[in-house]
Amino acid sequence: GVLSAITGPLLRWYGKNARILPWRDTPTPYRVWISEIMLQQTRVTAVMPYYERFLCALPSPDALASVPDGELLKLWEGLGYYNRARNLKKAAQIIVKEFGGDLPASFGDLLSLPGIGSYTAGAIASIAFGVPVPAVDGNVLRVISRVLASRSDIADARTKKSMEAALAAIMPRDCAGDFNQALMELGATVCLPNGEPLCKNCPLLPLCRANAENLTGEIPVKAAK
Ligand code: ADE
Repeated sequence: GVLSAITGPLLRWYGKNARILPWRDTPTPYRVWISEIMLQQTRVTAVMPYYERFLCALPSPDALASVPDGELLKLWEGLGYYNRARNLKKAAQIIVKEFGGDLPASFGDLLSLPGIGSYTAGAIASIAFGVPVPAVDGNVLRVISRVLASRSDIADARTKKSMEAALAAIMPRDCAGDFNQALMELGATVCLPNGEPLCKNCPLLPLCRANAENLTGEIPVKAAK
């Protein structure tokens, strides 16, 4: 299908255009986990000042598992959505108890932890452990919907499921983490929402059906809840 043709151009583009981000130069499982949780509801630029401070104060699952709640909330203050911080601590306690203090590598084990859904489990497994599983967030849903000119509702869980299956089928076995991050990066910096994509900078332009059919303003489709 069309999708299998995206891998080459996407990875070459990422090699040249990947932003230098603090969780990218040393992608240990713990660092990747903390970055992905912070990035769930907060933009990259807003996360930056919190990220290294948090890791300095709590450098391991052990440290996180035993931090007093007040100190944890202080480290999180300003990021909002405090359930994320509470789930981090709960998950760290399970990691210490059940996994010997190290994050598990398998998608299923990661998914069982509080605060970790299919996107985050896929991101940690692929970026930190090289496991070839997809990581489909809102950015990726938008990029793939446009490449395929798909009008499937991206708020529908079935759309995400079918996209995960389609991406699993074309996932490069030797660089799954880069492949997933390249899709996120393209969505965050080029394939922008609100009918303002920067298509002339896009490595997928020659393959993109939404661009060819002038549909980038209408796709992705997101039905009201
Ligand atoms: N947003 C969420 N995870 C990300 C990552 N690993 N790189 C860039 N943007 C992201």
